[in-house]
Amino acid sequence: MATQATEREIAVVGVIGAGQMGSGIAQLAAAAAGCVVLLLDSDTAALSRAVASISSSLRRLVAKGQLSQASYEDSIERIKCVSSVQELCDADLVIEAIVESEDIKKKLFVELDKITKPSAILASNTSSISITRLASATNRPCQVIGMHFFNPPPIMKLIEIIRGADTSEEVFTKVKYFSERLGKMIICSQDYPGFIVNRILMPMINEAFWALYTGVATKEDIDTGMKLGTNHPMGPLQLADFIGLDVCLSVLGVLHNGLGDSKYSPCPLLVQYVDAGRLGKKRGQGVYSYGTRSSSIKP
Ligand code: 3HC
Repeated sequence: MATQATEREIAVVGVIGAGQMGSGIAQLAAAAAGCVVLLLDSDTAALSRAVASISSSLRRLVAKGQLSQASYEDSIERIKCVSSVQELCDADLVIEAIVESEDIKKKLFVELDKITKPSAILASNTSSISITRLASATNRPCQVIGMHFFNPPPIMKLIEIIRGADTSEEVFTKVKYFSERLGKMIICSQDYPGFIVNRILMPMINEAFWALYTGVATKEDIDTGMKLGTNHPMGPLQLADFIGLDVCLSVLGVLHNGLGDSKYSPCPLLVQYVDAGRLGKKRGQGVYSYGTRSSSIKP
């Protein structure tokens, strides 16, 4: 069957960036899709943390009877940690999950274009950067695509696939089947700022900051309102901390610049938190405190 043939073509997956998103994507590719995964990060401590987190996440599945011990061991065995882009030369698909900077991502795509095999697909997990512009840094724009995962990738059921202006139908189809092998539902977005989910999510988060900033209610009541009033698993301020306030601000910047509408202008309180280094859960402090660090900013 054509479907099986295209699925088989993706056997080796390169994942760049061993943070929360990259490690979750590596886990899915190894355990759900059965691929060999080349997990790349220049920070060896980040690689060790990623392997420990994947191992603990998969062990939870074994304990719950959702994964056999043998599959657990095979999945861990399939994940190889690497430290240079050159080691991705055998990858059929490379998914980058590095910092949200267009310049840094473009430089990476230039390098990937040089070292990966001509048939390899280059995917970005970007939250909002233009796939078309990333693709234009390569000599294979028809093989560049967006695969936007959601945090935490092993749990969230969605992948948003973004076609750049030149992404081929064949590449889209391969990535669609591969996403299904990961056990995900897919939605398809054109390459416009924020794609689908962040175009809608970030204005909601920004509005929650405005509500806090202008004294409509406490942070707890804003979050409880959205959790219990609209059945969201987390309130918007708690979700912003979970995503990272710097990421939220950066996506709002892309929406504001790309769509030119002042409604996307970030709330000054969000800007101030980011300026103060209150980046959310990952830093122990955002809208809420997760550690002991003190701050003079009072919401
Ligand atoms: N990795 C693997 N498994 C995880 C996990 C992780 N990082 N975090 C939680 N889990 C598992 C737990 O083991 C548990 O599994 P079980 O039910 O089988 O025991 C299950 O998820 C539920 O976890 P918890 O009981 O600890 O906590 P919650 O019920 O509160 O769920 C949550 C946690 C799944 C994060 C939930 O609060 C949630 O869905 N929040 C919203 C997340 C969201 O909206 N993400 C998208 C953000 S936007 C984005 O990523 C795009 C970007 O571009 C900005």
